[in-house]
Amino acid sequence: MFLSRQNFYHLFLLSTVLPTNAAIDRHALVSKYTPSRNASNPSTPMQIGNGNFAFGADVTGLQTFLPFATMSSWGWKNDSLPSNRTIEDVYKYKGESWYNHGRLVQYDFGGDPEIEQWLTANPNRVNLGSVGLVFLDTHTGVVRNITESNLSDMHQKLDLWTGIMSSSFSFNDSSINVTTTSAQDTSAISVTIVSSLLSPHTRNTSTRLGIFLDFPWADGSQKFSAPFVGNYSSALFSNHTTTLLNISSSSDSGIQAQILHQMVDAVFYTTVGSSTKINVTRDSPVAHRYTILPRTETDTISLVISYNDVLPNEIPDAITVTQSSIDAWEAYWMNSGFIDLLTGSTDPRADELQRRIILSRYLMRVNEAEDNPPQESGLVNDGWVSLKFHMEQYFWHCAHWALWNNWELLRRSSSVYDRFLQTSLIRAQVQQGWPSGARWPKMTDPSGRSSPGEINNLLIWEQPHPLVFAEYEYRAFPEQDTLDKWAEVIRETANWMSVFAWFNQSTNVYDLGPPMYVVAEDTSPNVTINPAFELAYWRFGLGLAEAWMEKLGEDVPTNWTKVKENLAPLPIENGTYAVYEGIETDFWTDPAYINDHPALVGLHGWLPQTPGLNLTVAKLTAEKVWATWNFSNCWGWDFPMLAMSAARNNETENAVEWLLHPLFQFDDVGMPIGGVRVPTPYFPGSGALLYATAMMAQGWDGSEGKAPGFPRSGWNVQAEGLSMAL
Ligand SMILES: *[C@@H]1O[C@H](CO)[C@@H](O)[C@H](O)[C@H]1NC(C)=O
Ligand SMILES: *[C@@H]1O[C@H](CO)[C@@H](O)[C@H](O)[C@H]1NC(C)=O
Ligand SMILES: *[C@@H]1O[C@H](CO)[C@@H](O)[C@H](O)[C@H]1NC(C)=O
Ligand SMILES: *[C@@H]1O[C@H](CO)[C@@H](O)[C@H](O)[C@H]1NC(C)=O
Ligand SMILES: *[C@@H]1O[C@H](CO)[C@@H](O)[C@H](O)[C@H]1NC(C)=O
Ligand SMILES: *[C@@H]1O[C@H](CO)[C@@H](O)[C@H](O)[C@H]1NC(C)=O
Ligand SMILES: *[C@@H]1O[C@H](CO)[C@@H](O)[C@H](O)[C@H]1NC(C)=O
Ligand SMILES: *[C@@H]1O[C@H](CO)[C@@H](O)[C@H](O)[C@H]1NC(C)=O
Ligand SMILES: *[C@@H]1O[C@H](CO)[C@@H](O)[C@H](O)[C@H]1NC(C)=O
Ligand SMILES: *[C@@H]1O[C@H](CO)[C@@H](O)[C@H](O)[C@H]1NC(C)=O
Ligand SMILES: *[C@@H]1O[C@H](CO)[C@@H](O)[C@H](O)[C@H]1NC(C)=O
Ligand SMILES: *[C@@H]1O[C@H](CO)[C@@H](O)[C@H](O)[C@H]1NC(C)=O
Repeated sequence: MFLSRQNFYHLFLLSTVLPTNAAIDRHALVSKYTPSRNASNPSTPMQIGNGNFAFGADVTGLQTFLPFATMSSWGWKNDSLPSNRTIEDVYKYKGESWYNHGRLVQYDFGGDPEIEQWLTANPNRVNLGSVGLVFLDTHTGVVRNITESNLSDMHQKLDLWTGIMSSSFSFNDSSINVTTTSAQDTSAISVTIVSSLLSPHTRNTSTRLGIFLDFPWADGSQKFSAPFVGNYSSALFSNHTTTLLNISSSSDSGIQAQILHQMVDAVFYTTVGSSTKINVTRDSPVAHRYTILPRTETDTISLVISYNDVLPNEIPDAITVTQSSIDAWEAYWMNSGFIDLLTGSTDPRADELQRRIILSRYLMRVNEAEDNPPQESGLVNDGWVSLKFHMEQYFWHCAHWALWNNWELLRRSSSVYDRFLQTSLIRAQVQQGWPSGARWPKMTDPSGRSSPGEINNLLIWEQPHPLVFAEYEYRAFPEQDTLDKWAEVIRETANWMSVFAWFNQSTNVYDLGPPMYVVAEDTSPNVTINPAFELAYWRFGLGLAEAWMEKLGEDVPTNWTKVKENLAPLPIENGTYAVYEGIETDFWTDPAYINDHPALVGLHGWLPQTPGLNLTVAKLTAEKVWATWNFSNCWGWDFPMLAMSAARNNETENAVEWLLHPLFQFDDVGMPIGGVRVPTPYFPGSGALLYATAMMAQGWDGSEGKAPGFPRSGWNVQAEGLSMAL
């Protein structure tokens, strides 16, 4: 069904244009939560960035004392192959074959263990290098051993409205001010330093201030390397090279130095521009550290440090970088969704929830607006196991962009489904022998290759995600272009979903699995069949795919409908839904199954009511999860997902409590704390928080009243520019 022109215009307005008389004082609310520090936090940086690039700073506004990372969406490298192995061995790699209902299906795990390990660790995401202040002995030029404890009056703040980070502190009696901003269209920072110590000759001081650049080695075996990335140890100096390139003296591009960093086959260029003439020298022939000093007497220096994978001919100047930050951030805050929970609310919890929302909105744009789906720790570090991205987490990382109406940011990465379509068709049909469809990878990198690992290959809840992203895009842009753009992805996604479902002649229904892994990854894959959440998601997804074909005016493939209407019923044990069909009756008391993501509450919460879902049973199931699950072993998006289940059940008080659960914490700058088994930051938690709060504030299909997810009393919720959840 097509919308009338009038409705279309109305929807378009709702989804993309803000009322010019926006009632919320956005600037006041954003400013209220300005992060500030008086000392470095040893585990999280203060960050600036643009979604494809981010720079993490200690209290000096740089990476002077703590080597927080400079990360990008494009900075990847491969380690050397194991000795005596060639790239041919990589191309030849074949994993094991497991039976899927009597048919052998080949996966990317097992087989050649050396190559399997290399494929897991490669490519890996690099730290582009660090930038910090260096304190030199004025007379000898030797580096003085200065630590943070030698500084005083340290104050740092991050202006969220402009993306400008300001740090001020004193060394002995001299003040040093550092202002750092990130470019918005390129991977560059501007750094302005104001201090008399830059100009030692006019003062009688023993210390001269300079800037250092340093480049670490990184390899894919560095797992759980948070909070830092890369290795600066001298033992690894010879594993990589850096070279100070000659700059043409006739160049008027403002470029004053360029350093080539080579790690195995990957090359990275760091280009330095400066407001004053600088002298860049290598600290020693073997180290990868360089010192920058102004050549003339000055109290101020403005540098631009630009990171690239090809040698740039020009880089922006510091004013341009700073202006781009101001413009982009102001546009972001003004031209997308906004929630004011605070003004007029009497509930004391509103303040902390508002803080989490504002800081998460900032950090999502810095870390989770890449050209590819983000990794769990965004551009802060490589804290999670893989350094890669996980397509099943993509929903939690990025679906909130749809509800908050940040389509430009979402489209950077949602195009991944187009880019990965060919390899996913090959995975499904050529490698695994399914008659049709595309099977999306789980853990992957910009090439779309599926990383080895049983779970990586046997998880299935990543499969329906594109159907949901497409649906949201159509709701915001109900146009033929949107229908056409997603048509192939939808067709092949649903094709594989329908052929993966296996017709069971003894029960006359379509089964999901075995083999497969459930959301919580904690059941045995060869016995896991008909898991409740995945069945519901399959029905929901196939329904969206059918509706898409109808909107396109095309026939709905009969396989989709047959499967959707004859999928196995959701498994029920003793009055509640069960993780999967045939799981032990008393699984609610078995520690093996009541840890980790409680997807059972997603049946009605994360998902809307799906065909065949009994709301009474779903509610009993959610309540049983709330009462019995081992939450000490839950993390991140589990808590917003629990809040969404509470909200859909009109348990609004609980919904708020889940969002503020003691095990779901955000630090002083809004970094989502990981968990027992999970490094910090764990950004799916932030994305889920924004998804849940948008849903609770703006509502969902069929919800009633204003801010239906928030308690009736104590809360005054104002939402602007948000879209409803499905
Ligand atoms: C930092 O110091 C200032 C001034 O001494 C103080 O007002 C502020 O509360 C401190 N901030 C933090 C985060 O400790
Ligand atoms: C790493 O190697 C793989 C396999 O040869 C290749 O497809 C990929 O492009 C390489 N990536 C990088 C960043 O070099
Ligand atoms: C290198 O690999 C070949 C073929 O796998 C093997 O025959 C040879 O012994 C290996 N050489 C070394 C030094 O490991
Ligand atoms: C699953 O079954 C396959 C045979 O199809 C077997 O090779 C594999 O070891 C089994 N895995 C587990 C975890 O039982
Ligand atoms: C630098 O000073 C700190 C304490 O001020 C000390 O722990 C450290 O060992 C010193 N480092 C060097 C290289 O002297
Ligand atoms: C550094 O910043 C502080 C606070 O903004 C200011 O009071 C001081 O004058 C600045 N110092 C210099 C050298 O600009
Ligand atoms: C560094 O290079 C050496 C010599 O090639 C190699 O043996 C070693 O494994 C490398 N170290 C790391 C951490 O990559
Ligand atoms: C640059 O620094 C080096 C090392 O400190 C010094 O030898 C050289 O004279 C400096 N060059 C200029 C032009 O200042
Ligand atoms: C439809 O399903 C049947 C039975 O699973 C399968 O043989 C056939 O290839 C499927 N057709 C398509 C287009 O997926
Ligand atoms: C069935 O559920 C009831 C009520 O929650 C509980 O008391 C009973 O122990 C359960 N039975 C089994 C076999 O788990
Ligand atoms: C839902 O389940 C409850 C409890 O088992 C049952 O009483 C009710 O009839 C079911 N509702 C529907 C529509 O099947
Ligand atoms: C939700 O509960 C409130 C009372 O807490 C009630 O006023 C409201 O009507 C309920 N809404 C729905 C949709 O059931």
